[in-house]
Amino acid sequence: MALRSPNLNVMIRAAREASIKLKRDYGEVDQLQVSKKGPADYVTAADIRTEKILRGELTKARPDYGFLMEEAGVVEGTDPDRRWIIDPIDGTTNFVHGIAHFAMSIALQEHGRITAGIVFNPISEELFCAELGQGAYLNDRRIRVSSRGAMDNAVFATGIPFMGRGSEGEHQTFLKEIGAVMAVSSGIRRFGSAALDLAFVAAGRYDGFWETGLQPWDIAAGVILVREAGGLVTDIQGRDLRLEAGSILTANRNLHQPLGQTLRQARK
Ligand code: IPD
Ligand code: CA
Repeated sequence: MALRSPNLNVMIRAAREASIKLKRDYGEVDQLQVSKKGPADYVTAADIRTEKILRGELTKARPDYGFLMEEAGVVEGTDPDRRWIIDPIDGTTNFVHGIAHFAMSIALQEHGRITAGIVFNPISEELFCAELGQGAYLNDRRIRVSSRGAMDNAVFATGIPFMGRGSEGEHQTFLKEIGAVMAVSSGIRRFGSAALDLAFVAAGRYDGFWETGLQPWDIAAGVILVREAGGLVTDIQGRDLRLEAGSILTANRNLHQPLGQTLRQARK
């Protein structure tokens, strides 16, 4: 890829370091001590350990930066304008079930803007990374969103709400959305990691992705991947994305509008 910035190198080094233990933990998934945070929402010992390693490595390299982390929450840095946004294992349910589709997600936020992001699946060893203005890459190969222009050829990803995630009303809204999209597309996938869903849109594997109820750490890195790969990212209403709002709609430039329109009509 084009020259990596020192910060991107720091992120990649931290993820590779954390992946050594994480792979070992995944191999022993059956023996893992799994505690329940809420229905169908697991926090594993591996999750916490991975976050600690990432935090330690990033702090060693950039002692002033703050953090927003899935497990430990907000840690203010002495630099008020820079922080790392970390999901140590996105796809925790897959991890716990022995499904090798999960990833670490690390983004750098500077002055409120995401300026770099990586999504790394330590099992497949696919490393997706992007920096502002530098394009998006998969293991050093430039990636771009797909160029499909018709809904009926398109494959979309989404996240299905589940017990404990989303109200009864939100579950019903989702059923309307999926009904509308399946009727006009080539298919819908639910692989269980929003970070990888976004990375796959960036790589042109999926033509688009939508989900609600997400957290900033699920999507911060994925959003810059898609944008740097040439895709559009908004909320489901088509407004500017706010990471905290948790609603995301992304697709290539041809399909962002028709996918959004299909979803918005279904939600009425
Ligand atoms: C989850 C995954 C999943 C999405 C959920 C997220 P976690 O993150 O990204 O795809 O549908 O909403 O919570 O819990 O595995 O880190
Ligand atoms: Ca997550």
